Amino acid sequence: MNHTIKIFSPATVANVACGFDVLGFALETPGDVISVSITDVPGITIRNEVTGLNMPLDPDKNTTTVAIKAYLEYLKSSQAKASAELISVLKGIKGIEVVFHEKIKPGSGVGSSSASAAAGVFGLNELFGKPLTKVQLVEFAMQGERAACGAAHADNVAPAMLGGFTLVRSYSPLDIVTIPYPQDLFVALVHPQIEVRTEDARKVLPKEIKLTDAVQQWGNVAGLVAGLMKGDHALIGRSLQDVIVEPARSPLIPGYHAAKQAAMDAGALGCNISGSGPSMFALCSTRAIAQAVSQAMSQTFTQAGIDNHVYVSGINADGVRVMN
Ligand code: HSE
Repeated sequence: MNHTIKIFSPATVANVACGFDVLGFALETPGDVISVSITDVPGITIRNEVTGLNMPLDPDKNTTTVAIKAYLEYLKSSQAKASAELISVLKGIKGIEVVFHEKIKPGSGVGSSSASAAAGVFGLNELFGKPLTKVQLVEFAMQGERAACGAAHADNVAPAMLGGFTLVRSYSPLDIVTIPYPQDLFVALVHPQIEVRTEDARKVLPKEIKLTDAVQQWGNVAGLVAGLMKGDHALIGRSLQDVIVEPARSPLIPGYHAAKQAAMDAGALGCNISGSGPSMFALCSTRAIAQAVSQAMSQTFTQAGIDNHVYVSGINADGVRVMN
């Protein structure tokens, strides 16, 4: 058995405008790079090699190790029906070390905590000879999300794990559906350098919604899924609307509406908040348009005196993977 594995785990865009807590997709870049090792040092240890980024080093608070602990507990339970060989491996393990080499900035709205959680459980599962499928691993990565923001939402961890576009059709029981999407779809992302904690961004959400808003919202969710499956860019664009969450959260992002207008003027199919923000994403039909859109959004933030970073990416089809 290998004792160390290095994993790339992608950033993700959750909600995708209309699909709060249910829709998400994975990006080619940025992502986390994390090593997972089985060691002789007792317990779970975390080493942060990412200069300048703070992260919890307590295994009960770090999303990666919270997810790993949930995964290990499951494997040790009788419910897992692990093979005799795996049970003896589990008994022999003294410690696990997680080393962060590259890390998506926490609080950026592109699934930083999910990328780490997915990397941890995926890496260990690979070291153990893949006793569980990627779909089964989603549930444990979700426990990392719970530690990060108080809610075990799966709309970042599912695409981080599986790649592409994913739908959480149901949370109980968990039912994750992968959605086919056109190859000519690109993402412009701008990350204004302010922090919005998911926990805080969830507090501003309405507790109840009007039926007329719900009708519009589920029309858009269905429209977006249909547009992705048909490769219909115009339908994708028309469906990238959110009448429930965007009005509540956009005030948390100074300059949001100017950046969105700039993205649309530069040719985006649609533009909205990435996850709980402050990053904003725009879907575009070519990489060149995505490039122009990212610059247009960036400019509005720069003009408003807000430092920002941009990314242009295709959709990541594979999700978390072993690095060679
Ligand atoms: N669906 C989650 C939220 C995603 O919007 O709170 C967090 O990135």
